[in-house]
Amino acid sequence: MNAVFDSSDLSSSLKEGLKQIEEAQSSKDLESVHSKYFGSQGLFSLASKSIGSLQKEERKEAGEFFGRCKKEFDGAFLKKKEEVEAKEEKEKLESERVDMTLPFTRFPMGSLHPITLASRKIEAFFTSLGWSLGEGPEIEHAWYNFDALNFPPDHPARQMQDTFYLSPEESCLVLRTQTSSTQVRELISGPLPLYTASIGKVFRSDPLDAFHSPVFHQCEGLAVDEGLSVSDLKGILKALSTYLFGEADIRLRPSYFPFTEPSFEMDMLLGGEGGKWVELAGAGMVHPNVLKSAGVDPGKYTGFAFGIGIERVAMLKYGVKDMHDLVEGDERFSRQFAMGE
Ligand code: DAH
Repeated sequence: MNAVFDSSDLSSSLKEGLKQIEEAQSSKDLESVHSKYFGSQGLFSLASKSIGSLQKEERKEAGEFFGRCKKEFDGAFLKKKEEVEAKEEKEKLESERVDMTLPFTRFPMGSLHPITLASRKIEAFFTSLGWSLGEGPEIEHAWYNFDALNFPPDHPARQMQDTFYLSPEESCLVLRTQTSSTQVRELISGPLPLYTASIGKVFRSDPLDAFHSPVFHQCEGLAVDEGLSVSDLKGILKALSTYLFGEADIRLRPSYFPFTEPSFEMDMLLGGEGGKWVELAGAGMVHPNVLKSAGVDPGKYTGFAFGIGIERVAMLKYGVKDMHDLVEGDERFSRQFAMGE
């Protein structure tokens, strides 16, 4: 049944409503006042509906009266709404005030380990020359680590004392003892000419002491092209040494590696004239048997290769005296190099 329109009811509802608006303390209070009068069962909503059921001649007057009441209600409501919202906004800002002068909690910044710093520097050198950066697996097939690199079957480096073999023995898997193991992989997969460097971990069964670690890092460089010679190799090693240590004199000494012929040790003169020669890399011209293992024609292509110990570079470059410092992972040690290159 429709409610009957009663203007005196509406008047008293309006009066009551205005009082409640006035008394509202928050926008939440205001909202509930609004729905009390204008919600689906609100007094104003019902009154407005009941106008429809009036006689035609009464309807106009009732409609106008309703309109005036609503206008008065809305006016008071909006005015109050503005007021409480401004008040609430102000309270919110006050409660969220931040004292910019308070001291803040300092979280210690991490820093890169000298091995990472040295590795990145070496990588930057090779990429600046347009060389590619490669990588190979740390668990490697003995064929890549030894056979393809022209190690004879009885070479001492294959012995258990040097090499970590994985079981079962028939898997022929080893923890690679040198990053040279990437050479044949690179040659098989890469188009020629090839200029590539790869940095990674290598493993040997050496006890940890001031100069050795069973896990260390090497950078392997490999260039294979038509007409490469020892002078190209020497040029790259000289440029790399200078890049890492500032203007550096280098020398090549005859040596032996199964995978290069001729083979060299490269020394660098540390501390300029009057300084001392320190060994920095093994190097040589890629042995024709290595090229053949990868299906490369040694009649057409020649190559050079070299291997540099990253720990050695880091120790010389950052003045680290003891391998223990490099491997122990004490964060205070790395932090000294936070501003390093
Ligand atoms: N693989 C050698 C080592 O671990 C280092 C080395 C020597 C790498 C001569 C080479 C090279 O590429 O040509 O001692």
